[in-house]
Amino acid sequence: MNLKDKKITVIGLGYVGLPLAMLIAHRGFTIRGYDIDERKINAVRAKEARVEDSYVGPLKDTINLEVSTTLTSSDIYIVCVPTPVDERNDPDLTPLVGAVKAIGEVLHDGQLIVIESTIYPGMCEETIQPLLDKTGKKYLLAHCPERINPADKKWNTNNIPRVVGGINDESTAMATEFYQSVVEAGVKPLSNIRIAEATKILENIFRDVNTALVNEMAQSFYRMNIDIKEVIEAASTKPFSFLPHFPGVGVGGHCIAVDPYYMIEKGRVAGFDHDLLRLARRINSNMPIYTVNLLQNTFNVLGYPIKGKTVGVYGLAYKPDVRDMRESPSLEVIKRLRTLKEANVLIFDPLLPEHSTVANVEELIARSDALVICTAHEQIRTIDHHKFSYGQLKIILDGRNCLNRKEIDALGITYKGIGRP
Ligand SMILES: NC(=O)c1ccc[n+]([C@@H]2O[C@H](COP(=O)([O-])OP(=O)(O)OC[C@H]3O[C@@H](n4cnc5c(N)ncnc54)[C@H](O)[C@@H]3O)[C@@H](O)[C@H]2O)c1
Repeated sequence: MNLKDKKITVIGLGYVGLPLAMLIAHRGFTIRGYDIDERKINAVRAKEARVEDSYVGPLKDTINLEVSTTLTSSDIYIVCVPTPVDERNDPDLTPLVGAVKAIGEVLHDGQLIVIESTIYPGMCEETIQPLLDKTGKKYLLAHCPERINPADKKWNTNNIPRVVGGINDESTAMATEFYQSVVEAGVKPLSNIRIAEATKILENIFRDVNTALVNEMAQSFYRMNIDIKEVIEAASTKPFSFLPHFPGVGVGGHCIAVDPYYMIEKGRVAGFDHDLLRLARRINSNMPIYTVNLLQNTFNVLGYPIKGKTVGVYGLAYKPDVRDMRESPSLEVIKRLRTLKEANVLIFDPLLPEHSTVANVEELIARSDALVICTAHEQIRTIDHHKFSYGQLKIILDGRNCLNRKEIDALGITYKGIGRP
């Protein structure tokens, strides 16, 4: 059968699955989307679901995408369901196991299953294969980890190269052929499925560990009166062996703040203790507390105790220009401020008005004694800094080091960044 004649279903129509399904539709395949969340299905049907991908664009541009809460038999199933952790930070495989079991019910001989969700090395062979084996069908199975960075203006579903590893050569070959016909950036076939699983987990742990490094350096440099922003800019002039990472109020999202726990748990089961990974998680998870402590100290040094003051928190999303609040450090900052019961907290996120407590950024500024920037949305990155002088603002704590400190100093407002004394 010609590849273009194959029926393809993307399972899980979230940040990963929806743009991927749209890309596959753009390439002329017959593509369906399956999701257990009826609201998601309705939002896609109504073309209201938001798509954060610069290549496929908004959903209204795509018409050839049939979506349903019922999974039907397909030649290729692409699994893009969440891989979260539970309250103890242990991997929660419920969505993945649910999706694989649903495939098992409609599976036929010769069909290909591709897992795009982020998983730990060994999961396909140890958890997914046994579930599929129970069907008695002869299936193909590959892992092609998704590498997208939602809202990135440069890197998207089409121009990020893919890596693919299968449980056997036939699986790798078919998955590679399929992705080659969809992703223009190209596909690198790998020698086995564990290499593909390990590749993605290494990429995300690299980010977490390096971010922990600069978060630690930021706190130390701060005490030495050294501005880390300038240090990182200077170090970045070295043409090799330095890749800039940036300190901030914390690391959030469904990937970097979660995936290291998958590896830590897998390492434990395999008899290896991932000291560095646990330390990096601890440093990054403590950044919201560090930020609130820094704010309290700044109030104290200025001689206005935080008690009774109003603190405006700008940004709920875990990263700029998305609506995703999963594992967002903003939530920890707000929780901490509320636990202290010393300050009144106002919240604004231009992309999440339903979770904001004020109507706009101007109101947030006008009513706050201090502003904590938790998300560097475009609105705040490009704001006319004179707006900061509209109210009583005494302190700006720039948790993303995204504002112009000279302009804020000129307004007579105390500026603090993360690693920026
Ligand atoms: N968000 C990112 O930036 C990103 C980037 C690369 C990789 N990933 C990985 O991709 C995977 C998906 O992440 P996401 O951000 O798209 O998640 P998401 O929560 O945005 O979307 C997942 C979708 O899957 C659906 N779902 C859950 N269980 C299901 C089931 N059993 N059957 C069918 N549908 C089901 C949910 O309703 C939801 O719509 C995760 O493993 C994540 O680590 C995410």
